[in-house]
Amino acid sequence: MTSTNEAGSFWLPPQASTVAHEVDNLFDFILDINYIFFFLILGMVIVFVAKYRRSQSNELATSDLAHNTLLEALWTFVPLALCLVMFLMGFKTFMTLSVAPEGAMVINVEAQKWKWTFSYDDGQVTDALYVPANRPVKLLMRSKDVLHSFFVPDFRIKSDVIPNRYTTVWFEALRPGKYTIYCTEYCGKDHSQMYNVVNVLSQEEFDKKKQDGFEGGQDKDPVAWGTELFDKKGCKACHSLDGSRLVGPSFLGLFGREGKLATGESYKADEEYIRESVMNPMAKVVEGYAPAMPAFAGQINDKQMDALIAYIKTIK
Ligand code: CUA
Repeated sequence: MTSTNEAGSFWLPPQASTVAHEVDNLFDFILDINYIFFFLILGMVIVFVAKYRRSQSNELATSDLAHNTLLEALWTFVPLALCLVMFLMGFKTFMTLSVAPEGAMVINVEAQKWKWTFSYDDGQVTDALYVPANRPVKLLMRSKDVLHSFFVPDFRIKSDVIPNRYTTVWFEALRPGKYTIYCTEYCGKDHSQMYNVVNVLSQEEFDKKKQDGFEGGQDKDPVAWGTELFDKKGCKACHSLDGSRLVGPSFLGLFGREGKLATGESYKADEEYIRESVMNPMAKVVEGYAPAMPAFAGQINDKQMDALIAYIKTIK
């Protein structure tokens, strides 16, 4: 009665993730059982209404049958068995949907009125979601304000996103394409505007885009991009721009600066010194400062590094 495949069906959108067919099979199974009982019961109602209608002689046509053990057993145990099958299928699918495979790529999701923000292991932040095809992706989600719900119909995944706790969903996209993300929990005036897109790319294209910056960067002016990164990566919390002393040395006049390290050696702040100090800050700690900076290796890619250095050069 219903058929689903990768193109979707009358009831359902295309199947674009590895779990979609399992969810759809369960949906179809329950729907088919509903069809069978709907028509069975409706048919019997019509037949019985006609057969046992009050006749003109005003005599009831029904027998005085009051009890039938076999019938009662059938209408108790057949539905019970069907419900148990639905429960077992549902539980199996629920477990598939709940437990992300080992080694899934983790992307952080932040919901807020009324947008989604995605952040990746290299520190990039995007408004749309970018993922590779044929690779499990786990979303670690939280909300900044109220209840939201992350929903990608084509992937058959949905999960509430809640303030003050993490929720997760995972999926493995079957093929490159664009799929719509909805917020599916009413969250205020612009709830209906809280949608975006999952861009599923081939692994190769994903790697390239990640290196270049998912949402531009390559085409951005390096100084402007560096300024943005200084803000987004949290540099500004510890490095002032006006020469004042915070946790770390000021960026004012940093490029070309010479001085002493905690080890007593001297340093000159050239490109390589800055790169090393970002990626592996403990390698060269400036004299008089605590070794307090976290390492950014793996969180800043080469192009972002270039942009940061270009920006630092302008602070003088
Ligand atoms: Cu967020 Cu509705």
